[in-house]
Amino acid sequence: MTATEEPVTEIAAFPEDRTCPYQPPSGFRAAAGRGPISQLELYDGRVVWGVTGHTEARRLLADPRLSTDRRNPAFPATTEVVGRIRNRLTPPLVGVDDPVHKVQRGRLIPSFTHRRINALRPRIHEIAGRVLDTMVEKGPPADLVTDFAQPLPSMVMCHLLGVPYEDHDHFEQRTTRMLSGENPAIAMGELREYLLALAGENRHKLNEGLFGDLVEAPEGEVSRADLVDLTIVILGAGFETTASMLSLGIFTLLDNPERLAELRADPSLWGAAGEELLRYTSITDGITRVATEDIEIGGVTIRKDDGIIFLTSVLNRNEDVREDPDVLDWHRPTRNHIAFGFGAHQCLGQNLARIIQEIALQQLFERLPDLRLATAVAEIPFRPGHAVQGMIKLPVTW
Ligand code: HEM
Repeated sequence: MTATEEPVTEIAAFPEDRTCPYQPPSGFRAAAGRGPISQLELYDGRVVWGVTGHTEARRLLADPRLSTDRRNPAFPATTEVVGRIRNRLTPPLVGVDDPVHKVQRGRLIPSFTHRRINALRPRIHEIAGRVLDTMVEKGPPADLVTDFAQPLPSMVMCHLLGVPYEDHDHFEQRTTRMLSGENPAIAMGELREYLLALAGENRHKLNEGLFGDLVEAPEGEVSRADLVDLTIVILGAGFETTASMLSLGIFTLLDNPERLAELRADPSLWGAAGEELLRYTSITDGITRVATEDIEIGGVTIRKDDGIIFLTSVLNRNEDVREDPDVLDWHRPTRNHIAFGFGAHQCLGQNLARIIQEIALQQLFERLPDLRLATAVAEIPFRPGHAVQGMIKLPVTW
């Protein structure tokens, strides 16, 4: 049966707001109870496939018959806004299939190796320390979203891209506007102009960074303008996710004080804790694709042009993959989660994200041993289901 042919008994909606910011929505859990692949209904009434089985998700995410090309009219729109602008969304890398994807990704891989990213550790330490100094001087209280979770990745991105120091304010203001959703297209256009000028004036040479790697490389199949667009995609993919990961990770720890106490007692657990928090919070909940051919899998037939959505939050709570998946546990092997996706488009920045998370959380909780929420949990706003999951505000005191 196809997504539209299967008799509708019960159907989960996508997206669905979480009721607790770090728990999967109840509709997604119900979908998982109906089998590894079941139906989901989008805002416009379209029925697509929701994947909740771990094995099926890995097979499908590695299958070249699934496409990420947003220009395909059959690519599912998950919100009304995305539906309106979908055909204008032609992001390189995240929105292209092989063979072009392989070429674009190949250009970036040398800048994201373990060795290159590990070499950033001392600088990330220093940046986290500076962000904390500013916050401590101002507070308490503080909003950890605007005072910590957003400025830290923004400063790391400036460093990674090699934005000269005197341009940091200009650059950070625009990345923050892109992140906050206030005229994101205008902010993105301004960033594009800025990066093209930076390359044109050769000022990027003042700093070593990913952007320098890209614009110095021989043009080959990818033009200079495309490389700037690739850089913007990296910013978009890396900034919002990292800021959300930090805000939601910190909230989860403050809301689970006994787990936080374990980390305070044994700081060697911070690396494992970062990984477990990625699995547990699954901030990118809903990886989207369209089928370009018929595919038989998990007892259903996915037809050409069917939409497919991977429900990461429940995929990462699958009992076939790990015991007690609803328990936060720093002592389990957690690497086989799907928080960074899987297959050809698996997160390119995952090593960087891991290092930022480990350093940021450890420094924050060591520097402020009495850090606690300044408002009742129920009053702290978090992001709606269609966005990357994270906190809108995180009022704290110490
Ligand atoms: C906790 C933080 C992060 C999470 C949860 C996350 C999650 C993801 C996921 C799920 C995908 C796959 C999307 C898909 O298959 O459609 C992805 C792709 C990607 N991520 Fe991340 N990401 C994070 C941080 C970063 C950072 C820090 C960077 C870069 C500095 C980055 C750069 C990218 C890029 C460039 C892609 C596209 C890769 C491709 O299409 O080949 N991400 N990310």
